[in-house]
Amino acid sequence: MREITQVSTGFKHYTKEDLRELDEVSLRGLLHERTHHNIEVPLYPTLLKWKGREIAGFGMQAQIVFDVWRERGYPEDEPDIKWCQMYLDAAAKVRAGEKPDIADLLPEPFTEDEIKVVHKLIWGRHSVRDWVKKEVPDWMIDKVIEAGIMAPIGCNLDEVRFIVLKTEEEKRCCWSDISTENAVIIVIAYDNRPTAVVGQDLPEAVPQNRGYDCAAAGDHMLLMAHALGLGGCWLSKRGGTDVKFKEQWGLHDDNIEIAMHIAIGWPAIVPAKSARAPFDYYMIRK
Ligand SMILES: Cc1cc2nc3c(=O)[nH]c(=O)nc-3n(C[C@H](O)[C@H](O)[C@H](O)COP(=O)(O)O)c2cc1C
Repeated sequence: MREITQVSTGFKHYTKEDLRELDEVSLRGLLHERTHHNIEVPLYPTLLKWKGREIAGFGMQAQIVFDVWRERGYPEDEPDIKWCQMYLDAAAKVRAGEKPDIADLLPEPFTEDEIKVVHKLIWGRHSVRDWVKKEVPDWMIDKVIEAGIMAPIGCNLDEVRFIVLKTEEEKRCCWSDISTENAVIIVIAYDNRPTAVVGQDLPEAVPQNRGYDCAAAGDHMLLMAHALGLGGCWLSKRGGTDVKFKEQWGLHDDNIEIAMHIAIGWPAIVPAKSARAPFDYYMIRK
């Protein structure tokens, strides 16, 4: 068996020397992605069909990226890096022919009362566009952003970023078709580096995932805002308004792209909940 010395995402290929040249954000993105595709995804089918034999080279690409991460002295005690290490340890066991005990418990169905809470959240959330003059505490803003961070993320790249706009002057940098007076705007953006380092920004790859990741975050955030008693609304981004926002707010970082923004605040008036068409209207059948 040849020794693994290269890291390949399918789109981009790196030697250890190349990895040493990467900036911290790119290296972290690559470490997340390699841990995901080189260990996490193939691990569970391997465990299900465990043959009790060592699998040479299993997870070695992720290990090479982590070795450079460590060599560069980057943090090892942060939750995402610990998560990578947990998988690296499991992969080392697989290489040694030892079955790692890593699988989570099977999910239990929610109880009836828990399902009621889910209904209250999903069916109860709706767009609020008028807010009273009352401060949204920072802990609530953080909670909303934390819910966004926990949304699904393409290939575990963690490229979504947030900008909180509180003052009227700051909020004016963002285009909106409604007044955002008394609201806090949270701009949802992405850093291009984690996607670029794995080559997923290429047209033949999955460049759309960056925007989808932001949208998934936005949806989680609106649900959390609703659970906290706040009212929120997703606001469209018109063509060109992202460039204007960066100019006016003073974001001079070419790695960051603005995807969308949401407004949250204490509701002044709540529109009657919108209704949807009957279930069959949405179904495409043969
Ligand atoms: C992609 C997207 C863009 C939206 N843009 C705006 C917008 O620019 N202004 C606005 O007032 N509402 C906007 N909304 C909110 C929708 O109008 C709202 O979700 C829809 O009318 C359904 O109502 P509900 O959210 O109360 O269920 C947007 C929603 C989505 C998903």
